[in-house]
Amino acid sequence: MKALILAGGSGTRLRPITHTSAKQLVPIANKPVLFYAIEAVRDAGITDVGIIIGETGDEVKAAVGDGSAWGIDVTYIEQDSPRGLAHTVIIAEPFLGDDSFVMYLGDNLVKDGITALVDSYRQSGANAQILLAHVPEPQHFGVAELKGDKVVRLVEKPKEPASDLALVGVYMFDKNIMDAVKAIKPSWRDELEITDAIQYLIDQGFQVNPHIIDGWWKDTGKIGDILEANRIMLDVLEPRCDGTVDEESELHGKVVIEEGARVINSVVRGPAIIGENSVIEHAYIGPFTSIYYDVTIRNSEVEHSVVLEKSSILDIHGRIEDSLIGQNVEITRSNRKPKAFRLMLGDSSKVDIG
Ligand code: TTP
Repeated sequence: MKALILAGGSGTRLRPITHTSAKQLVPIANKPVLFYAIEAVRDAGITDVGIIIGETGDEVKAAVGDGSAWGIDVTYIEQDSPRGLAHTVIIAEPFLGDDSFVMYLGDNLVKDGITALVDSYRQSGANAQILLAHVPEPQHFGVAELKGDKVVRLVEKPKEPASDLALVGVYMFDKNIMDAVKAIKPSWRDELEITDAIQYLIDQGFQVNPHIIDGWWKDTGKIGDILEANRIMLDVLEPRCDGTVDEESELHGKVVIEEGARVINSVVRGPAIIGENSVIEHAYIGPFTSIYYDVTIRNSEVEHSVVLEKSSILDIHGRIEDSLIGQNVEITRSNRKPKAFRLMLGDSSKVDIG
């Protein structure tokens, strides 16, 4: 069995972060979300892994390499533009051959991994298996209709959902999916939809099994979802200190201080993680905050936020909350006159001054 991890796409919902970087590399508790997918696949015993890459392919390749860090063998498959999930299966044909495979959306996080799903698919003999979860607002998802223990219909974002079972971004297929992805036509948004391909399998009489998960999962395509994923994953970290914390500082609750990080005269209230070589000085870092590497936070307060690498937050009096701060961002207070907000923000940036 092989795996196909999707790390292309356009990431419009996460601009401006995705103007410059891959959304699959946004860190959740200081680990790129894509790495959780790779670990889930590896833990399910799959070592032959194809990764779909798009515009941000170089960055993904630099982060993942040949996969040897995880003991897997990675093949990169370039997609010229985001033509849909089913399109990725077509271009992966030389890699997939006739093998069964798990398709995993590289910006999805399934807290308990996919080992149980892969095992049940292996034992089922079904042609496809889809991962489903009960959700409160199914109209925002691809929704499955079941009859007994079989999937009979899939509808993308239905106005009147037939069930509350949403498609989670993990699918298992045998070789028959290849005919399906080639048979379907692009949707109204001009993408080859995997839901249409699965519906095609059902209509042709192939067996599509549901696998309902009760554990936590998230599609991290939007800022609110990233903050939630960060909350969940920080909560399961084991506290440790590989950096330095001076005597004036206080750490409360689950706090991880990574190598080379320094906490000086500050309060860090967990769950929180301070990344490699970051400096927290005369500052407060509140619960559910991830500070990535080479970040400086001085004379400022940050809570329930994710701060990416090489950014600095200096001398800000109000508390920064519910925020996703990109790479190399500088937020500072100056004594320049007149007193004013002076901003240089990328396209699609969002600033909320309360
Ligand atoms: P989506 O989040 O559905 O699409 P997107 O990345 O284009 O994002 P947005 O809706 O914000 O514009 O994609 C799910 C995953 O699949 C994500 O990791 C990107 C990946 N993907 C591809 O690799 N190729 C594709 O053609 C598409 C549509 C998505």
